[in-house]
Amino acid sequence: MAFFSEGDLVWLRLQKVNDFDVPIGATVKSVDGLGMLLTDDEGQEHFLTGSSLGDVQAMHPSCLSAVDDMIQLGELSEAGILRNLFIRYNGQKIYTDIGMVLVAVNPYQHYPIYGEQHINDYKPVTDTSDKPPHIYATAQHAFISMKRRLQNQSIIISGESGAGKTESTKLILRYLTAVSGQQTTLDQQIVDANPILEAFGNAKTVRNDNSSRFGKYINIYYNRHALIEGARIEQYLLEKSRIVYQVLMFSEKETRILFTLLAAILHLGNLSFQGEVQIIKKSITHNLPYS
Ligand SMILES: Nc1ncnc2c1ncn2[C@@H]1O[C@H](COP(=O)(O)OP(=O)(O)OP(=O)(O)O)[C@@H](O)[C@H]1O
Ligand SMILES: [Mg+2]
Repeated sequence: MAFFSEGDLVWLRLQKVNDFDVPIGATVKSVDGLGMLLTDDEGQEHFLTGSSLGDVQAMHPSCLSAVDDMIQLGELSEAGILRNLFIRYNGQKIYTDIGMVLVAVNPYQHYPIYGEQHINDYKPVTDTSDKPPHIYATAQHAFISMKRRLQNQSIIISGESGAGKTESTKLILRYLTAVSGQQTTLDQQIVDANPILEAFGNAKTVRNDNSSRFGKYINIYYNRHALIEGARIEQYLLEKSRIVYQVLMFSEKETRILFTLLAAILHLGNLSFQGEVQIIKKSITHNLPYS
């Protein structure tokens, strides 16, 4: 075991409760012959003695403070990434870069970072790497690259349900229509079309009050002067498994089993089951509102 002293930042491996648990950051409060007292990033205290001292590891110096671009982390581990996002999120910085990729953490509250002033901050920028990470920086990067190279650009927005994809799409549309030369009614129509489309497809689920039932592929057409000439929105019905998963709160594994069973029933008629079906029975009984 390495030797630690008061004030050192370390990784603390807690007992795993589920597969997604990773070591968390902690500060050494005191060390003596009996053991070591740590306070983790969430303010919880841990007193470690004997073999549990083996759960503590030194933190790479690059992870000590939060960075704008996580490429700068010398220890690009899951724990390092999550801690960086956590520290930034606590400082109301919801956007972080990993090279060309922008990570957004949904704040579930309004931050005043999307107004006209913020659009104007990014508008004249030709090298977005000099600016703090922001969804407008991503949009500006695509816009500038299109103008410079005269090539189509794509922005892919992905994440789990409730992550903020639909909101991010609207922000990107707002930015692109705002920077494309003179504002026209066409630009405004493109921005306005989104809520109308949402009104048809969206539904309230356990994850998101405004969950999209359709994925979208949005084409924005520019002319040679980088003015918007039109747009085309294609909608894709999201997989049905997603809706079952969200409404009944099935795990991915349970959803897979459920669909295998349904397929079998549809093909073969009545069946009797053994083994894994118990998981589904329990889950259905547990999750149905009228159970
Ligand atoms: N940047 C943001 N600032 C403040 N609130 C946000 C932001 N992004 C998302 N939210 C909040 O989170 C909610 C869910 O976001 P959103 O609908 O964009 O998720 P989604 O990823 O599209 O989910 P789904 O896959 O279920 O459609 C929004 O209704 C809004 O309240
Ligand atoms: Mg959505």
